[in-house]
Amino acid sequence: MDLIEDRMGNQWGWWGDPEVVATAGVVTGSHLDSVPDGGAFDGPLGVVSALLAIDQLRSDGFTPRRPIAIVNFVDEEGARFGISCLGSRVITGALSPDKARDLRDAEGVTLAEAMRGVGRQPEHLGPDPESLGRIGSFIELHIEQGRALIDLGQAVGVGNRLWAHGRWRIEIPGEANHAGTTRLSDRRDAMIGCARAVLAARVAAETHGSLATVGKISIQPGGVNAIARSATAWLDARASGETALRSTVAQIEEEVASLDAVVTEESWTPQTAFDDALVNRLANLLDGAPVMSSGAGHDAGILANAGVPAAMIFVRNPTGVSHSPAEWADPEDCYAGAAALATVLAEFAGAAQ
Ligand code: GLV
Ligand code: MN
Ligand code: MN
Repeated sequence: MDLIEDRMGNQWGWWGDPEVVATAGVVTGSHLDSVPDGGAFDGPLGVVSALLAIDQLRSDGFTPRRPIAIVNFVDEEGARFGISCLGSRVITGALSPDKARDLRDAEGVTLAEAMRGVGRQPEHLGPDPESLGRIGSFIELHIEQGRALIDLGQAVGVGNRLWAHGRWRIEIPGEANHAGTTRLSDRRDAMIGCARAVLAARVAAETHGSLATVGKISIQPGGVNAIARSATAWLDARASGETALRSTVAQIEEEVASLDAVVTEESWTPQTAFDDALVNRLANLLDGAPVMSSGAGHDAGILANAGVPAAMIFVRNPTGVSHSPAEWADPEDCYAGAAALATVLAEFAGAAQ
């Protein structure tokens, strides 16, 4: 396949020339990055299955009429710079290039500096209508991150909706002091405030039927015998609808307001409704595969929200566990996913005469 790297560093492998063929291409793929101590499937399964599907089509002697591409989107999880789906957000304009360049990792290195360090040119970041214009439809295959398919007894499902989701940074002030000499009544302990924020997230999620998680905190100065001067808690919140999500976050903000905490919205992704016609076509092609929604975020959702016809194929996960080394899919189900993808690519691209 011919490799094109866009200005953001997303990699597109093309079978057929997207510039020569008049019709836009059929694009599949996912991401190769992961979360800290993540599993082997969330992301890579979509890229590897795409390669397998294309191998299958080639060994069947198939030649596509429309070009087909496999994309590897960079930094889908946002583990280093804090914003998920960075690769697709930048090229669709969902994240401004200035904001992207200024993102900082835990060591204070900006995205711009990190890109320059590997020979890239961050000044060229920004919306990329050229790359997007080559996509006629985007189908992302992904391991399921839940237990719907196991309960349905199906190896493969079709994704039609993604929940609204976002990330917020909660900065809680305190006053550093000695753990052995400061009376409890005199303390302003940022760690206590942080604990209240974590519990508030849980209560708000229960109240609004949403999900809210604090999976990462940073405490300063971080000494065993020092009262915390400040705490930062990162909140990940999601809901099937935007109203429930906004209400969840508002309740948490209200709870931490008394701590003089500063809450900053780092990213916001509206709920995604994938293209209905595309979803139905996929479900029909895949012998009536079940149609399902997901609470996880995906590059397919960012593309769909930018107007690209997109949908997803999910592969059964026997435990539902994800973002953990225990994440798993049985080999037979992985092959069923790759075969499903081959069927879809062949149908969408059509055979050259
Ligand atoms: C990506 O996996 C996300 O939903 O955070
Ligand atoms: Mn993930
Ligand atoms: Mn993923």
